[in-house]
Amino acid sequence: MSTEKQRVNEAAAYIEKKLGFRPTIGLILGSGLGVLADLIEEAVVIDYSDIPHFPVSTVEGHASELVAGTIKGRQVVMMKGRFHQYEGYGAETVAFPVRVMKELGVQTLIVTNAAGGVNTSYEVGDLMVIQDHINFMFRNPLIGPNDDELGVRFPDMSEAYSRRLGKLAHSVAEKQNFSLREGVYLGLLGPTYETPAEIRMIRTLGADAVGMSTVPEVIVARHAGIEVLGFSCISNMAAGILDQPLSHQEVMETTERVKPKFLQLVLGIIEEL
Ligand code: 6GU
Repeated sequence: MSTEKQRVNEAAAYIEKKLGFRPTIGLILGSGLGVLADLIEEAVVIDYSDIPHFPVSTVEGHASELVAGTIKGRQVVMMKGRFHQYEGYGAETVAFPVRVMKELGVQTLIVTNAAGGVNTSYEVGDLMVIQDHINFMFRNPLIGPNDDELGVRFPDMSEAYSRRLGKLAHSVAEKQNFSLREGVYLGLLGPTYETPAEIRMIRTLGADAVGMSTVPEVIVARHAGIEVLGFSCISNMAAGILDQPLSHQEVMETTERVKPKFLQLVLGIIEEL
């Protein structure tokens, strides 16, 4: 049995050979922002299934490629297609690519997701800087023996999401003439959306948005000492706020509508990093 560190090294060695450069920015973009891959110059595209030890998506038609290259003069590596625990993957599997990114040279991770609005002052289509998260997935990707080469046993999470990068995001948005919300993201396993009673509880607990991703990747990024910037696109209001059922259709329609603005924001931030 190989160790996690060996698996990370093997995956990174395979990718490194194909890239010939070291990316410093990692991107895990949910909510239809995969099109950012098309803006990567001199892109090297690697199928997840070709990378040793990489998880592969079981969902047909799901993108499952690592794309690396240059955006705005910065060297980036992007996951086109991410993994979710509701698909049946363990938290450590979902977050494995983040460890590989670290080994490749990534120092900054930008993560985005689609989330339900819990804060009643939010509106569908709002973009939120994730100021902090609540791990309600009741799983942690770091469970198991700790490899000190990957990070410390008990990682500090008091600034999981970089205040510095959050400020940068606000200033970039301001230059682009819109404002960002800032709030707490609560991650659940899914795949059901929450009940209205659960959403009332979640609001009481201090969350502004709710979703089914991001938490495991961010935990592993912090363990690895990577600085994190996270955004939620409020794709719909959570259950019990509006008198209407929730649908994946609405999530996709909103993310499609907000996409140009969201892309400009992420590009503007990459330029400033
Ligand atoms: Cl309302 N809940 C969760 N868990 N994930 C979501 C969502 C709601 N809306 C988009 N993603």
